Amino acid sequence: MKIAIVGTGYVGLVSGTCFAEIGVNVTCVDTNKEKIESLQKGNIPIYENGLEEMVLRNMKAKRLKFTTSLESCLDEVEVIFSAVGTPPDEDGSADLKYVLEVARTIGRNMKQYKLVVTKSTVPVGTASKVRAVIQEELDKRGVKVDFDVASNPEFLKEGNAISDFMSPDRVVVGVESARAEKLMSKLYKPFLLNNFRVIFMDIPSAEMTKYAANSMLATRISFMNDIANLCEIVGADVNMVRSGIGSDTRIGRKFLYPGIGYGGSCFPKDVKALIKTAEQNGYTMRVLTAVEEVNENQKSVLFEKLVKQFNGDLQGKTVALWGLAFKPETDDMREAPALVLIDRLLKAGCKVRAYDPAATQECKRRIGDTIYYACDMYDAVLDADVLMLVTEWKEFRLPSWAVIKKTMSRQIVLDGRNIYDKKEMEELGFIYHCIGK
Ligand code: UDX
Repeated sequence: MKIAIVGTGYVGLVSGTCFAEIGVNVTCVDTNKEKIESLQKGNIPIYENGLEEMVLRNMKAKRLKFTTSLESCLDEVEVIFSAVGTPPDEDGSADLKYVLEVARTIGRNMKQYKLVVTKSTVPVGTASKVRAVIQEELDKRGVKVDFDVASNPEFLKEGNAISDFMSPDRVVVGVESARAEKLMSKLYKPFLLNNFRVIFMDIPSAEMTKYAANSMLATRISFMNDIANLCEIVGADVNMVRSGIGSDTRIGRKFLYPGIGYGGSCFPKDVKALIKTAEQNGYTMRVLTAVEEVNENQKSVLFEKLVKQFNGDLQGKTVALWGLAFKPETDDMREAPALVLIDRLLKAGCKVRAYDPAATQECKRRIGDTIYYACDMYDAVLDADVLMLVTEWKEFRLPSWAVIKKTMSRQIVLDGRNIYDKKEMEELGFIYHCIGK
C-alpha cells in the first residue's frame, strides 16, 4: 500500500515512520525545503525516543522517503494523510490555512480516486470544508474524479509517541463511505492485530472526539490543581486525596497529578479552540473556561510560594530551576509553565540558573541569554537561594542532597511536581514546599 503524509511535524513524522515500519510505502511531504533536505540526510528535527533509528531503518529499506512536492507523488498514492499545523489564530480558533492548501493541491492534481484523511486537530466541520475545496478545484478543471474525505485524529503523547502509535488504546476514524472504511481498516489492522479497536463513526463525531479527549484530560488536571490549592489551605494532603479518589475505577488513577499547570502543543490550544467553537455557535463552555483560568493561575503558584518565603523581597535572589520543557522526555517548550515562571522571576529582579536535559537550546531560542543555562543540575544550584523543580525528569529524582546543600547559599526547595518527600527533605535540613500539602 502506498500513502503520503503531508506535514513532517511531530504527528506527521511519527505517523509516517510507524506506517513504514509495518510495511506501508510512505512518502512524507513538507513545503519546508530545508527540513526535507535535512530529513533526506537522516537528520531528525525533533527529540522523540526511538524515532531516529526507526526513520533511518525505514529510509534504508526504501519504505520511507521525503519530498517537498505533493504533486509529484500524488499519482502513486491512494491515501493522503494531512498532518499539517493548525496554529491558533489570535482569537484562539484553529487556523485552517495549511489544511485547506493541502486540499487545494490535491484537487488541482488528482487524476484517480483518493482518500484524503485529516490527522491534524481540526474543528468540527473541517472535513466538509476540505471536501468542498477539492470539489471546487475539480470543477475548475472540469474533471470528474471520485474521492473521499475522512477524519483520523491522533492521540500521541510526546516522549511516548512511537509506542502510542504502535499499540494504541484505540484508533478513531470518521468516514462517510464503505470504500474509505475498508481502506482505513486495512491500514490500521497491523497495529491492532490482537485487539482490533478501530472505532468508526461519522466525521463530525471523530473531529469532536479529539477535542473532547484533550479537554477532559485538561479538566482532570485543573480540577486536581484546584483541589491541591484547597488542600494547602485546609491542611489536607493532595497525594492522599489523589490515591483515595483514583482507586475508584470510575475515576481511575491517571492524569490526576497536580503541579504547576499543563502545557504543550495540545491541551492549551485545544481547550481554547473548543471554547471558541462553542462561542461561534452561540454556546458557552462554562467548565472549560474555568479549566483554562485555573491553569493560567497555576503556572504562578511556585512564584507565589517564593514571594511568601522571602516576604516579597526577591530582588537579587538567585533561583535555580530544574527542568524547562513542558514535561519530561521532550525538548518542547510550547506553553511551558517554565516560561511564565522565568518571566515573573526576572521581572522581580531574580537571577535564574536553569538546567534541562533536553530543552536548553529551545529555551535559548525563545528567551535568549536572559538566564544562565547550567551544564548540569549541580551547576544550576551553585550559590542559589532557592531550587525550584519545574519538570519531573527522571534524573532529578534521586540527587545527591548533601552536595546540593553545600552548594546552595540557602537551603530552600520548591517542588512544582511533588516528586520529593516532605518529611525526608525536612530531615535533610531543607525548607521544603510542594503543591497541595
Ligand atoms: C497530550 C495528550 O495526552 C495526547 O493524547 C494528545 O494527542 C496531545 O496532547 P502531550 O501534550 O504530549 O499529549 O502531553 P501529556 O503527557 O498528555 O501532558 C500534557 C500536560 O499535562 C503536561 O504539561 C503535563 O505536565 C501535564 N500533566 C499531565 C499534569 O499536570 N498532570 C497529570 O496528571 C498529567
